[in-house]
Amino acid sequence: MMNVQRVVLIIIVFMFLGASGCKSSKKFIASKHKAGFHDAFITCHQYGFKPAEILTEEEHKTVENLLKNEKGIGTGYGFWISATNLDSKQTYYWLNSGRKLFYTNFSSGQPDNYKNNENCLHIFQISLGHFAWNDMPCNSHQRFLCQYNEEPCSTYEENKVSLL
Ligand SMILES: *[C@@H]1O[C@H](CO)[C@@H](O)[C@H](O)[C@H]1NC(C)=O
Repeated sequence: MMNVQRVVLIIIVFMFLGASGCKSSKKFIASKHKAGFHDAFITCHQYGFKPAEILTEEEHKTVENLLKNEKGIGTGYGFWISATNLDSKQTYYWLNSGRKLFYTNFSSGQPDNYKNNENCLHIFQISLGHFAWNDMPCNSHQRFLCQYNEEPCSTYEENKVSLL
C-alpha cells in the first residue's frame, strides 16, 4: 500500500512539473570583466554560479549562441571555460566536477601547450559566430563563462545575472 501511494505521488509531481513547464535547465552566463583562470573560477562561485563545463555539442552550440550576441567580440576573442590540465599536464579535466573531457571542440592543432605554458582552456571566436577551444596561459586575462541551473518558475536567477 505504501509503495502504491509513493508511486502515485511521484507521478503527480511529474505531471505537475510537466504541465507547468517548470523544468530545471542548465544556463550559461558570460562575465563582463576579465580575470585570470583561477580568479574566474572563484568569481563564478562567489556569485552563486558554477564555472562553466561544456559537456556536449548541444551545450557548445548554446554557448555559441550566447556569445554571438556579445558586443565587441572579434576573431580570436576568448572566454575561459573551466578545464585545465594543471598538475597532471597530460589529461584535461573540468576543475569543478573533476570529470575528464569526453566532448571537446578544439580548433585544429590545439591544444598545443605553446612554449610549455598553456594549461587552461578557453573558447574563442574562430570565425564570425563560430567558436572553438584552445589552450592558453592560465594567468592571461580573459572574460569567462559560468553556469547555473535555472530554478523552476523563479525569476531569482535573472536578478543574479546582472551582478557578474
Ligand atoms: C564544433 O563546433 C562547430 C561550430 O563552431 C560545429 O559545427 C561542430 O559540429 C562542432 N564539432 C563537434 C565535434 O561538436
